[in-house]
Amino acid sequence: MANSKMIPLLKESNNKEILNCISSQEEVNCLIEFEKEIASYVGVNGALAVNSGTAAIHLALMLLEVRAGDIIYCSTLTSIASANPITYQGAQPVFIDSEPETWNMSPRALEKALKDAAKNSKLPKAIIVVNLYGQCAKMDEILKLCHFYQVPIIEDSSHALGSMYKGKPSGTFGDFGVYSLGPRKIISNSSGGVLLSNDSKYIEYAKHLATQARESPPFYHHTRTGYSYIMSNILAGIGQQQLLVLDKNVILKQKVFNQYQEQLANVDGIDFVYEQEDTLSNRWLTVILIDEKLIGQNVYQIVLQLEKYGVETSFIHKPLHLQPVFEGCKYYTHDDRESVSTNLFQRGICLPSSVDLTIEDQIKVIDSLK
Ligand SMILES: Cc1ncc(COP(=O)(O)O)c(C=O)c1O
Repeated sequence: MANSKMIPLLKESNNKEILNCISSQEEVNCLIEFEKEIASYVGVNGALAVNSGTAAIHLALMLLEVRAGDIIYCSTLTSIASANPITYQGAQPVFIDSEPETWNMSPRALEKALKDAAKNSKLPKAIIVVNLYGQCAKMDEILKLCHFYQVPIIEDSSHALGSMYKGKPSGTFGDFGVYSLGPRKIISNSSGGVLLSNDSKYIEYAKHLATQARESPPFYHHTRTGYSYIMSNILAGIGQQQLLVLDKNVILKQKVFNQYQEQLANVDGIDFVYEQEDTLSNRWLTVILIDEKLIGQNVYQIVLQLEKYGVETSFIHKPLHLQPVFEGCKYYTHDDRESVSTNLFQRGICLPSSVDLTIEDQIKVIDSLK
């Protein structure tokens, strides 16, 4: 039940759908409606709405029966949320480097890893491919390799709802797709995630696992460990409303990116990730790459300097193969001479990219950077 403080707030927003969810959870099932709407938006058969993107990845691993001793490949340049569920299952992550064009999983490094694994008869149980900051990974090449070696794909599109790869929505290429609706995502209900699959049996079983694995008898009966992962009806109602503004948010994010790119194009030592042919990035986050030699300062110094001007920027994700918690895990690089993800980490800065960033605020960021 919503508390009394929350109801006036929602009334102010005049949001009938959410109020209905609160007043009559039995009659208006926002959860089921939201699942149908997001599945239909991206063109898959089934979606399960859960309470985080991390939970959705964990469920996908459980559906693939990942257990202790299994190996899972994962993009290295990503949030730790992409890989933590591997550890929840007692499995072993192997990290795959980025390639320099999309910054996402390198098909070349993946091929090296799969070839090695096939030689040693230790193929991974799944791979987790991330579409970082809204940019789609090179899915054709990754799919080809995974089909050849018969390895299922979990596509972590937590950042890439609204992005397209060759005319198809990001998140719909793997055996499972994942979105996050957490804070500051392209759409957000404060805390949520979505698991996608074209196989409705998987979605049904994921729902069972996400609701404490309660069995069918009318009394509480459980034969295996389940989880409390399902999205609340109220947050699903907010998710429905957020889905209505997704297209608008993509346009606003692209506008923010284009403005940065135009204004900073002639600054030597600043570069961007470019859209790949036949893909459309939702530009969830604008990230620049700094050439320390040309700029005369490193990323750390620039972030601190901008803070002094009142501009909040941040580092890009530190690659997972460098995280102490994953010390000793195997890592395959794109290039024998250098690790592309490590280089990106040393050069990347995330710029303010909110959909409600005013043009004045953006100009302040640009001027401060210059
Ligand atoms: C790449 C990536 N995957 C997964 C997640 C997990 O999402 P959540 O915070 O909803 O658990 C995040 C979170 O920000 C993320 O950045």
